[in-house]
Amino acid sequence: MTDLVTYLSKFNEANWLAAVENLLPCIHEVDREAVQIWFRFYPLDLVRHIAASEDREETLRGFALKGDFELKNQIDTSHHFLYGHRYWSTVKSKIEKEIDAFKGGEPELAEIIKSVAMQASNKLNIERQMVVAISAAGLATLNQVGIDAFKAAAGEVEKPTGIMSKSAEAVIAERKKDDSQGILGFLKTIDKKFSVSFSGINSAGKFSLLNAEEIASASQKDRSHAWQEQDERCWEGPVPIECTSASCGTCWVGVLGGREKLSDVAPRERRAMKVFGYNQRDEEKPFLRLACQAEAGGNVTIVIPPWNGVFGKKVRGNVEELELEPATTSARALRDTIASAASGE
Ligand code: FES
Repeated sequence: MTDLVTYLSKFNEANWLAAVENLLPCIHEVDREAVQIWFRFYPLDLVRHIAASEDREETLRGFALKGDFELKNQIDTSHHFLYGHRYWSTVKSKIEKEIDAFKGGEPELAEIIKSVAMQASNKLNIERQMVVAISAAGLATLNQVGIDAFKAAAGEVEKPTGIMSKSAEAVIAERKKDDSQGILGFLKTIDKKFSVSFSGINSAGKFSLLNAEEIASASQKDRSHAWQEQDERCWEGPVPIECTSASCGTCWVGVLGGREKLSDVAPRERRAMKVFGYNQRDEEKPFLRLACQAEAGGNVTIVIPPWNGVFGKKVRGNVEELELEPATTSARALRDTIASAASGE
């Protein structure tokens, strides 16, 4: 009889994305965008391509990969930005039960996710919609890391702080709000100021942004911490940046709230996202953006992925080459690596 992990290995990234899409109506609004962002932060096609490569180090270099893209080091933490993360230890134990109870057959992915969510919600005595997203992320994690590593993880949960410690409805309402502009805020001559709330694997906080400023530019001005000590890609501000011209892929972020307040995706960003391999949806205001291109006209909430790279051509195929702008990047070696990764050499 096939075991659960062998069975899950039959599904590719497109199957997982379709299962999540199918389950969206059963997922609480607070995690509807978050779970779709999670699946784009941890792309199965990339992991499988690297696992199948003859020379792993050479492949990683060729993709200009920086940071940590592997779930095996982040089993308990990768989903820190899901509201359902607080239920992780129960969901993890129910996934382990599902491994033992799996009877074979050919259940749909969505059905397996729902089964775990049902058991977890019964145990926690909460609505199932609160744990469907974290159940999907948990099963996809099992699929990528295997049974041994999955079971070996402690199942620890990061205590929710700030707005995330409130109810799901309060989180949704807070993400929609803009900062007050004071009693003269109605005047067109007043420079409006907004806030960007961010979270990453090692950092969380808020920085201010002028009306219509790019997220990356506002982040660069935040000198409140030694950001590079928390993430070596952050040499200026909490959002990792390099070229600031849609040429390197360093600054990709997920938008958990306020994406409607960001500028529309321009053709250059759209093309660049394909070259990098980031699975941005074909919408004017998608939930995956380049922080150096997205201008905000209100408060936004973003999540920073723990890695970046350029793998579209090799892993996704059928992408055009990106016209790089050498004068705008700071490191020649990085530029050259990105150029060859983008052209698929
Ligand atoms: S900083 Fe290079 S793409 Fe945004």
